[in-house]
Amino acid sequence: MAPKKVFSSYFLTEDAQKRLESLGYDLDQSSADQLPRTEFLRRVKGVHGIICDSACQVDAETLDAAGDTLQVISTHSVGYNHVDLAEAHRRGIQTGHTPDVLTDAVADLALTLILMVLRRVVEAAAVIPTGQWCNQPTWMLGRQLRGKAVGIVGLGRIGEGVAQRLRGFGVSRILYSGRRPREEAALRVGANFVSFDELVRQSDVVCICCSLNDSTYHLFTYDVFKLMKPTAVIINISRGGVIKQEDLVSALANKIIGGAGLDVMTPEPLPTDSHLLKYPNCVLLPHIGSATVEAHEAMGHLCIDNLQAGLEGKPLPHPIPQ
Ligand code: NDP
Ligand code: DGY
Repeated sequence: MAPKKVFSSYFLTEDAQKRLESLGYDLDQSSADQLPRTEFLRRVKGVHGIICDSACQVDAETLDAAGDTLQVISTHSVGYNHVDLAEAHRRGIQTGHTPDVLTDAVADLALTLILMVLRRVVEAAAVIPTGQWCNQPTWMLGRQLRGKAVGIVGLGRIGEGVAQRLRGFGVSRILYSGRRPREEAALRVGANFVSFDELVRQSDVVCICCSLNDSTYHLFTYDVFKLMKPTAVIINISRGGVIKQEDLVSALANKIIGGAGLDVMTPEPLPTDSHLLKYPNCVLLPHIGSATVEAHEAMGHLCIDNLQAGLEGKPLPHPIPQ
């Protein structure tokens, strides 16, 4: 029997990559950064499996381009807003993702961003090469996390990981919002379920940890930023689309919020002339939430586990929830 054809828009980390190469598939691989859409659509033609990541849109056009050989889509991400699940399901194509193994990495990064914004870390570090280091007691003052109310939008795996870490910082309250209460998780981390408006009004730090879906697309608009405390900061480790970005720029320009820390934005990569780059109280990171050796190695293996199962016509070990 001819080997199954697999296209991967992503190179995995060392061990996972070796395992993928050892499986005897007819493997075509590329880096998403160097893959124009037309080239991607050309190369998926006739494949049985696709490995992708969150930068790669797997929509009806992709499925049409692949054709009816396609059995499985395995994304190297926990987020799956880039995969047209309904269309894949309709065509009988299995879809898998990589939950849990990146939760610690992303929750760590959320805390990193919170502290970077509150303590003005980027601004302060930028002073060193200028020589304008100042010893005045009023200089470069930030804010502490102790005693602050933190609101988590989406108490899922990562939201809970963020809440767990916050407890060690002595925050006064952890609030969360969502489509429904997450009672068990909330009990574990001592978080209180509140309405979205209440969360936004009461929090000193708002941390976006939800998935991007129809109910969260552009959830944060100028009107929402106006509800926030003027000193409050917004952190986003979810997806750029949860924030209406031009409204965030206006909120920063008009100083109606205290600052922002974003690991995700729109588009990615962010154009170098983006207005977001103008504000010293806006810390930007290039979507590195899961980027640790440990998380990416584990994600690579989950991704292969899903691919293998799908190509063998078995249920995936980590299916994307339908
Ligand atoms: P989970 O599925 O465990 O959590 C997602 C949460 O989003 C659920 O608790 C869900 O709650 C919540 N949610 C959905 N809709 C809403 C809404 N309208 N309001 C508030 N909450 C909502 O996923 P993970 O925690 O593992 O991952 C979360 C997201 O983080 C991913 O989807 C991905 O986009 C992003 N991510 C980013 C990374 C990065 O590198 N920056 C790395 C990994 C993930 P409910 O359905 O109960 O409302
Ligand atoms: C995820 O896993 O969803 C991350 O955003 C990586 O793309």
